[in-house]
Amino acid sequence: MPHFVTLLGSLRKGSYNNIIAGALPALAPEGVTITALGSVGAVPHYDADVQAQGWPQAVTAMAGAIRAADGIIIVSPEYNYSVPGVLKNAIDWLSRLPEQPFKHKPVLIQSASPGAMGGARMQYHLRQSLVFLDARVFNVPEVMVGAVHNKVNEPAGELIDQGTRDFIAKQLTAFATFAQA
Ligand code: FNR
Repeated sequence: MPHFVTLLGSLRKGSYNNIIAGALPALAPEGVTITALGSVGAVPHYDADVQAQGWPQAVTAMAGAIRAADGIIIVSPEYNYSVPGVLKNAIDWLSRLPEQPFKHKPVLIQSASPGAMGGARMQYHLRQSLVFLDARVFNVPEVMVGAVHNKVNEPAGELIDQGTRDFIAKQLTAFATFAQA
């Protein structure tokens, strides 16, 4: 059975997207395991001069975990209709590695927002970068959780909206099949 890793595009302690990411292991099909990658906040700003001195440990650790996994699930907010800088920065580092970890890797994208669109526009910008990285990005069904503040129990950090839970479970089942094909 496949093992997936999650990459979170938010640094916020109470992140809605982190609540979604945290719900995934329980919503995955039986036998599928899902663990979280390190925080994108641990990755320094991309700088080719820093790269020339050696790869940051946060980058190599993240890359190793992605290579070892059968797929990666990116869960992220949308910032100004696009990909948050901290997430893009981590992807930029990973993309420079000799054994580029996204190459041919199954990728699932999820987003959540208090807004009605659920971060949909971020997903399409992220897909554009993943084309260059030659990732194998899952298409449908798409998970874009709008009005997320009404679908979680914030103090408990739990996704409580049953419709959303069912839909995500359906997507994870389809992604597990896709990743093993
Ligand atoms: C936002 N937010 C936002 N929401 C959205 O749906 N579309 C957008 O383009 C933006 N743009 C945006 C820019 C910046 C700089 C911030 C800080 C926020 C709101 C965003 O969805 C909200 O803050 C979420 O709570 C962020 O996700 P996490 O951190 O809760 O996972």
